[in-house]
Amino acid sequence: MRHIMLLNAKGGCGKSTLATNIAAYFANEGYGVALADYDPQRSGLDWIERRPDNRPEIVGLAGFKEGLKRVPRSVDFVIIDAPARSHGAELQNLVKHAETIIVPVLPSTIDMQAATRFISELKAVGKVDRKQAKIAVVANRVREYTLIFEELDEYLTTAKVPYIAALREAQNYVRAYTRGLGIFELPEYLAWPDWEQWEPLTKWLRSVRSQP
Ligand SMILES: Nc1ncnc2c1ncn2[C@@H]1O[C@H](COP(=O)(O)OP(=O)(O)O)[C@@H](O)[C@H]1O
Ligand SMILES: [Mg+2]
Repeated sequence: MRHIMLLNAKGGCGKSTLATNIAAYFANEGYGVALADYDPQRSGLDWIERRPDNRPEIVGLAGFKEGLKRVPRSVDFVIIDAPARSHGAELQNLVKHAETIIVPVLPSTIDMQAATRFISELKAVGKVDRKQAKIAVVANRVREYTLIFEELDEYLTTAKVPYIAALREAQNYVRAYTRGLGIFELPEYLAWPDWEQWEPLTKWLRSVRSQP
């Protein structure tokens, strides 16, 4: 069973959006998938409630209430949506649950500064330092050809963390979330540019590079 965590102390960077989309991706690939929501805001669980019955099932777990005690045996991938403001002991505890950690970062000066501090803190966590958990960053809500994206792109390229993908700002993410879907479940004519941007991320997740 693999555990993939979306983590960043900053709120609003796309943890829940990436978590729901990764869950939907693996469910459509035929795997057993659970979404463990560690955020009391429970966006992940709300999304599961919206999910249509005719789509591959995703099991919802209220991680903030009971941790990962009730993961069914049929589950191959547990996608963990972590809360914002995770630091110190809480961060150490969260990291215990995952072997793969994705940090979404927005193209904004405040977010980039916060990400620098957060990534240093994350890299200092014993489990990450010993490479028992692999981390990567993903740029999210990117508007191409903007100065701030260029800055983020350059920053992430030189940060000493694998920079796996850049996802554009798109209504598709809002549309999909509202319907309990992932962007892979939207029609191709709408979502193909997003599918292309996800390719390096899903490839990384399926490769040994994302596993200890
Ligand atoms: N790539 C994107 N394009 C457009 N909107 C996005 C994108 N990623 C996230 N959002 C929106 O940004 C807001 C914050 O995202 P969310 O996933 O809830 O962040 P977090 O879980 O880190 O707080 C939500 O309204 C979400 O729909
Ligand atoms: Mg969230």
